[in-house]
Amino acid sequence: MNGYQCIACAETQAADFAGFVCPSCGGNLDITYDYEAIREELERNFDFAPFLPVSRLSRPFPLRVGGTPLIDAQHLGKIAGLRNVYLKDDTLNPSASTKDRASAIALRRAADINADVVAVASTGNAGSSMACLAAATGQNAIVFVPESAPLAKLTQALAFGATVLAVRGNYDDAFDLCMAACDEFGWFNRSTGYNPFTREGKKTCAYEIWEDLGRRVPDRVVVPTGDGNLLSGMWKGWCDLKAVGLIDRLPKIDCVQSENSAAISHAVQQLRDEGSTNLDWSEVIIDKVRATTVADSISVNRPRDGLAAVKAIIQSGGETIMVADKEILAAIPEIAQHTGVFAEPAAAASWAAVRQLAKLKKIDKDELVVCLISGSGLKDIANAATAVGQPLTVGLTIDSVSEALAR
Ligand SMILES: Cc1ncc(COP(=O)(O)O)c(C=O)c1O
Ligand SMILES: [Zn+2]
Repeated sequence: MNGYQCIACAETQAADFAGFVCPSCGGNLDITYDYEAIREELERNFDFAPFLPVSRLSRPFPLRVGGTPLIDAQHLGKIAGLRNVYLKDDTLNPSASTKDRASAIALRRAADINADVVAVASTGNAGSSMACLAAATGQNAIVFVPESAPLAKLTQALAFGATVLAVRGNYDDAFDLCMAACDEFGWFNRSTGYNPFTREGKKTCAYEIWEDLGRRVPDRVVVPTGDGNLLSGMWKGWCDLKAVGLIDRLPKIDCVQSENSAAISHAVQQLRDEGSTNLDWSEVIIDKVRATTVADSISVNRPRDGLAAVKAIIQSGGETIMVADKEILAAIPEIAQHTGVFAEPAAAASWAAVRQLAKLKKIDKDELVVCLISGSGLKDIANAATAVGQPLTVGLTIDSVSEALAR
């Protein structure tokens, strides 16, 4: 890491900068690297550590973060007439979502700068993730979540011993309150997007996809999007690989949002409609929405890493796909029944998006597509239950079983 650059106005800061956002315009920061030095280091010893902005651990991290499987989803792809669909199964992280990648790096950063207390605002997953990883590292976690967060996510955070503050408000309210509390009490704020280190954790997903595809670049990666940090992280990972010459082309990064929570998609579509080619990123405005989706993890009024995501979608040539809640819920059993992977609503949205692209003939049958399955279905049983029907109830006799099977 050799510094920071503002995503909006491009102003740079040195590596010892202590703030989180651009001092000139308040924009989010992107961490920058000396790619030439990384390239030389990779020649001596190939691992991804030089791409990470934190100190190396002297012992292996106690939990297995990342290193999740890439699943060849042939049966699933067939439903949409596609031959090369893969799922990146990030439900198999320690707290069962992609957020663990970000928490690992943010907690490491907090340790590097001797911050005692780490706070986060979360729809649920970032909070349960930070609670989980902080339990493993012995750090102190404070989690702000909307009181309506799915019970499983709240329960995870409590079980892992974090201080959990259930906010009487939505995610956006929790975010603002967490910011104010960090200012007041001097806590390290891990909140998504605002903290530049979260994107750096999420980018590791791209490295793994590349390796698991036998060092090939997919045609598109489909990313469920709320704040836009996961999407901008995914893009950063591929850009890192290209910057050191490991790959020579980049995938499209497709943004999937609920049609009821689509601030980033609206902004991209507007910019594309205007047809401007030489965009001044500091002028781009992302209008707030009133989010209402069942997919709680991507229910966001004001995306906190919106500009970085808009930039990534436009630079990669990705699609913006808005899916209905009905399609999101239908995708849960469809993925589960054809792959053995159980996704929460936000994660299932990635497959709902591919279905829509296929229907609109915006995707070729041979394209290599990776859907990010970013969180486990066990995190939101209530919504999954509405999509999967009821079991067959039987009495204690074989006749009863036969009758049920006949029904
Ligand atoms: C399961 C899951 N998928 C997708 C996302 C979207 O990530 P982002 O808010 O960075 O766009 C989240 C964020 O909470 C999530 O928990
Ligand atoms: Zn700036």
